[in-house]
Amino acid sequence: MEPGPALLFYVNGRKVTERNVDPEIMLLPYLRKKLQLTGTKYGCGGGGCGACTVMISRYSPTTKKIRHYPANACLIPICSLYGAAVTTVEGIGSTKTRIHPVQERIAKCHGTQCGFCTPGMVMSIYTLLRNHPEPTLDQLTDALGGNLCRCTGYRPIIDACKTFCKSSGCCQSKENGICSLDQGINGLPEYKEENKTSPKLFSEEEFLPLDPTQELIFPPELMIMAENQPQSTRVFRGDRMTWISPVTLKELLEAKFKYPQAPVVMGNTSVGPEVKFKGVFHPVVISPDRIEELSVVNHADNELTLGAGLSLAQVKNILADVVQKLPEEKTQIYRALLKHLGTLAGSQIRNMASLGGHIISRHLDSDLNPLLAVGNCTLNLLSKEGERQIPLNEQFLSKSPSADLKPQEILLSVNIPYSRKWEFVSAFRQAQRHQNALAIVNSGMRVFLGEGDGIIRELSILYGGVGPTTICARNSCQKLIGRPWNEEMLDAACRLVLDEVLLPGSAPGGKVEFKRTLIISFLFKFYLEVSQTLKQMDPVHYPGLADKYESALEDLHARHHWSRIKYQNVDGKQLPQDPIGHPIMHLSGMKHATGEAIYCDDMPAMDRELFLTFVTSSRAHAKIVSIDLSEAFNLPGVVDILTEEHLGCIKSCFFSESETFLATNKVSCVGRLICAVIAESEVQAKRAAKQVKIVYQDLEPLILTIEEAIQHNSFFEPERKLEYGNVDEAFKVVDQILEGEMHVGGQEHFYMETQSMLAVPKGEDREMDVYVSTQFPKYIQDMVASALKLPANKVMCHVRRIGGAFGGKILKTGIMAAVTAFAANKHGCAVRCILERGEDMLITGGRHPYLGKYKVGFMNDGRILALDMEHYNNGGASLDESLLVIEMGLLKLDNAYKFPNLRCRGRACRTNLPSNTAFRGFGFPQAGLITEFCITEVAAKCGLSPEKVRMINMYKEIDQTAYKQEINAKNLVQCWGECLAMSSYSQRKAAVEKFNSENHWKKKGLAIVPLKYPVGICSVAAGQAAALVHIYLDGSVLVTHGGIEMGQGVHTKMIQVVSRELRMPMSNIHLRGTSTETVPNANCSGGSVVADFNGLAIKDACQTLLKRLEPIISKNPRGTWKDWAETAFEESISLSAIGYFRGYEADMNWEKGEGHPFEYFVYGAACSEVEIDCLTGDHKNLRTDIVMDIGRSINPALDIGQIEGAFIQGMGLYTLEELDYSPHGILYTRGPNQYKIPAICDVPTEFHISLLPPSQNSNNLYSSKGLGESGVFLGCSVFFALQDAVSAARQERGLSGPLRLSSPLTPEKIRMACEDRFTKMIPRDEPGSYVPWNVPI
Ligand SMILES: Cc1cc2nc3c(=O)[nH]c(=O)nc-3n(C[C@H](O)[C@H](O)[C@H](O)COP(=O)(O)OP(=O)(O)OC[C@H]3O[C@@H](n4cnc5c(N)ncnc54)[C@H](O)[C@@H]3O)c2cc1C
Ligand code: FES
Ligand code: FES
Repeated sequence: MEPGPALLFYVNGRKVTERNVDPEIMLLPYLRKKLQLTGTKYGCGGGGCGACTVMISRYSPTTKKIRHYPANACLIPICSLYGAAVTTVEGIGSTKTRIHPVQERIAKCHGTQCGFCTPGMVMSIYTLLRNHPEPTLDQLTDALGGNLCRCTGYRPIIDACKTFCKSSGCCQSKENGICSLDQGINGLPEYKEENKTSPKLFSEEEFLPLDPTQELIFPPELMIMAENQPQSTRVFRGDRMTWISPVTLKELLEAKFKYPQAPVVMGNTSVGPEVKFKGVFHPVVISPDRIEELSVVNHADNELTLGAGLSLAQVKNILADVVQKLPEEKTQIYRALLKHLGTLAGSQIRNMASLGGHIISRHLDSDLNPLLAVGNCTLNLLSKEGERQIPLNEQFLSKSPSADLKPQEILLSVNIPYSRKWEFVSAFRQAQRHQNALAIVNSGMRVFLGEGDGIIRELSILYGGVGPTTICARNSCQKLIGRPWNEEMLDAACRLVLDEVLLPGSAPGGKVEFKRTLIISFLFKFYLEVSQTLKQMDPVHYPGLADKYESALEDLHARHHWSRIKYQNVDGKQLPQDPIGHPIMHLSGMKHATGEAIYCDDMPAMDRELFLTFVTSSRAHAKIVSIDLSEAFNLPGVVDILTEEHLGCIKSCFFSESETFLATNKVSCVGRLICAVIAESEVQAKRAAKQVKIVYQDLEPLILTIEEAIQHNSFFEPERKLEYGNVDEAFKVVDQILEGEMHVGGQEHFYMETQSMLAVPKGEDREMDVYVSTQFPKYIQDMVASALKLPANKVMCHVRRIGGAFGGKILKTGIMAAVTAFAANKHGCAVRCILERGEDMLITGGRHPYLGKYKVGFMNDGRILALDMEHYNNGGASLDESLLVIEMGLLKLDNAYKFPNLRCRGRACRTNLPSNTAFRGFGFPQAGLITEFCITEVAAKCGLSPEKVRMINMYKEIDQTAYKQEINAKNLVQCWGECLAMSSYSQRKAAVEKFNSENHWKKKGLAIVPLKYPVGICSVAAGQAAALVHIYLDGSVLVTHGGIEMGQGVHTKMIQVVSRELRMPMSNIHLRGTSTETVPNANCSGGSVVADFNGLAIKDACQTLLKRLEPIISKNPRGTWKDWAETAFEESISLSAIGYFRGYEADMNWEKGEGHPFEYFVYGAACSEVEIDCLTGDHKNLRTDIVMDIGRSINPALDIGQIEGAFIQGMGLYTLEELDYSPHGILYTRGPNQYKIPAICDVPTEFHISLLPPSQNSNNLYSSKGLGESGVFLGCSVFFALQDAVSAARQERGLSGPLRLSSPLTPEKIRMACEDRFTKMIPRDEPGSYVPWNVPI
């Protein structure tokens, strides 16, 4: 084989020719680093987040068609792109030329916050529109299934996309032919309001039309190339890897013969992650290019043959077509495959992954292999020696050598037989999340019954997720042959399968009892499905199911989204040009959508720039015996390796505890930074880091959980306590006392932009500039200054914007930035450090897990008279903000309730986990949930509804909190009342009860929770803020302040403030970013108060300027700002002013237990309705109504965005997101493939938000309220709705007694709480008889 031509492909209409291509390089770094196309983002590197989505277009000389498909650039080897056209977000539109309608609409519909996910979203929608200019809502949600957003909550993105649909105003859920907008939920009339119409958040009239003729054309050169493709293999050789691309089948077989061990890379979605995450290395890779025979689609009399090279998306389309054309009885297997193809991964992966790659990879959780196996599919293999067929059966799936491919063979195609009459095939899967999540357990089941007699002739059952490979219940099936299809058979089948498919207690992946239950729950579902079809086929012989049981078969997720937003109109008296109160688009929205918004890692490489990566501890509690750097040092490109010795044992100091930047002789968690490798490139640094050899000696005790910390008395000091009234006396007079506890799991921030920093020595006076993704530039400045032993005035920290933070970019960022700057200083050149997703999740900690113990005394009418609480949080290995989190949890635990006698204590536990830190809501989401849980328990004891007990105990009008701060709860009561009304609560509750009485296996639940969220940070100094406003002689204004733009739109709001104050158009005002150079000593951005504090400082600066300029303006009232500025200059009046806000008056005396820690309260209420599948634990949020009192909104679009985004994040916290740790304290969940944040499928089917009319809130910025955090808690309405549904199931099954639940309430916990004959059937392991895979933290 001769070396082929240079690699040639197109990017955004431009030809790219690479002569010395490295086959190890993926498209994402190539675009970002080589082509400087930084719009395409890195979010995970493993295909799981969609931030790197691009469109790939290929021309087929056979069909003469161009195929456009979305793909994840992080998994595309560039060598696979020969002859392809790549379109990135920069290629479809720009603010400098013409913006694309997709970009325009996503921005104008407020679908961007931090904007980091936006280019990926844009490209997914763009590609969809290239293929379907008027898509359906199904196609839209499907197209976005592989794109994650951590900020918006997806609703505005869906709204933006809907504008491309033919009938965008309608919910498209035309049950009974009536749109649900007209019929109301559950067929109930909707809540009637005086003024139902509120202004829209965006105006569709101004949108550019979608004009397909304006799109980039497919490069004609590539078409010609494809038509005249030379029939010879291309070879690309890199330093370590050779890429061979055969273009004919013959050459492919030659190559496979020559390199039998080389993988045949198709979509690279299996090989790619193995190389990246498991360190697998292939010196030679064979990647077939457009070999027609691999894309064959053959319809024979009794089977369909599909080429192994077809993508899963193509397979889906082909099967969808086939099931339309063939009689249903022939398409059983195709229908089952289609069901799984709808949820398997996201659209990008389905378009990249091939059928052959899927089959050959034989992942233990493969969705398709169990189905292909039960369907008796055969594999057509080919090698130089000839053709042969093997069955796709259990032996093949378990890689038994006698049933496997030979190394020289390739898979050519797959034969999938038609099903027969009386043959039934079903597909089942349950995952943590409905879409884009690997199955926890999946299954393919097939039965062939005797005609008319219902006797089992053939039976085949395979499971995925329950063993190292797909498992077949062969023996059970054989024993069941000959039995009639009835309940006795089902019972026997369950027992047999449980005996055969053994899952040890320590099985990888955990969730063992859940998996065992799913094994037989699926079997039961199969039984029901077949029985139901039999009834339809032959109602006389097969009476089928009672209506009540049919609910087991319905799909929860096939519903469409619609939403209604009601917000405040601006005051009629407001000047028309005053932007305050208007839903103004995020000012970076267009730049987010075009990829022009620059984030830290988008900054171009500096001259001689180096890359730094950290080596972290692999032990949770150990002595470091030795560190051997020699091998790492010897690798090419390695410049330096820093240990604590180099740094001189400088310590980070925050609050009362200090820690060295890098570990010295001991580590106290996995992920502790030990040393930093600095190399010429990222790849070299990462390779070297793997060669650092560290010898540890484990230390005792290993403390991971709160319970273990309590047992070892391992706490951070001091304990905090708050007491109000006389709890002990009150317990003596109450009717009932109840004790319980509640666990709340932690949460990963999962900001889309990982921790990023770039330190640049200025070359003079030892000055250092640090560009960093942080919420707290001043802290970075301090840390860097102390690492470099410099005064702060030599270190400047700059932040333009950050790609999400949620509290996670404060303290940990400081240490990493300091080490990076140290390296930059030492070597006199720029050093960049960008964490990979897995490193970020491992190192940086997250939300604190909580344990709340409560003793509550109450009267039989539901009045709570005494509450005694103990809170513990899992702080991890260092203090960080754990004590502050505990304090906030205590101060906020009352939520909306007046507990006349309250005692609460709180302790932060020191454990051997990575240190947990600030996270949106800062203790309240955990503390509030514990209180609400306690209330539902009280309600259950009193036989009252939870909403009644909530109402009875709620603050009413003027009152006092436990720390003796006055509270006026009028708006709380109003939110509650409006939410009850808006959600038609009582009618829907009746409807839910009716549904539950009619359905056995599906249950609905409804819950409403109130919210009182205190805003403020307990300290005057921590609330001070400053701003700087310059007016230039041309009349333009530059404003800067201490707040960080992290997606919440603070810069947009600040420009609105300047616009109002100076009465000038927003277009005249600019904001470049945040820097310690312009505003020194700024406080950390967080705690819902960034706009409050900085806005007041800006207002102050503007008023100073106005005061100075008033005489000039009044002398020339018709003048322009240019005139006034010039006159002021001539009169020597300064056109620059500093504004300052000293902070709200606030104090908290913990000794006395009283104070005025907060400035004001945000109120709200949320009502959610869910449906659960009792057999699998699957659930769907059907509807959420939120009412919020946010004072007088500065920008309702941004504020609603905060409410929705926080709500969805809270829903994730309470129902979905689960961190798994090994018994040795190693975090398993280190990427989107293991850790699930809410995706588009989790958005409530109906999502309604309403804001109370503006209320006066005197001290704040224009009476607005800070909203960043409060909405997280409202996510717990979903938790309680789920609890309600589970309770209904348990009640029906005659289960009484308390229902112990913990957060997150995942499918596993829901299923296991819905106890039934199946949960009783499964074997249980004696605790202590096995080492579990994970420990619940
Ligand atoms: C983010 C993500 C989410 C996912 N979610 C799911 C999910 O929900 N459900 C699910 O079932 N799967 C899921 N997957 C797995 C996915 O289905 C497989 O990775 C994919 O099908 C593999 O196909 P590929 O073409 O990319 O294989 P490649 O990575 O290209 O190849 C995989 C293997 O197949 C071999 N191979 C490929 N073609 C041939 C051939 N013609 N002849 C011989 N050998 C061949 C290769 O040698 C290699 O060993 C997910 C993967 C990712 C990355
Ligand atoms: S970065 Fe490619 S999918 Fe996440
Ligand atoms: S806007 Fe989607 S991740 Fe921030």
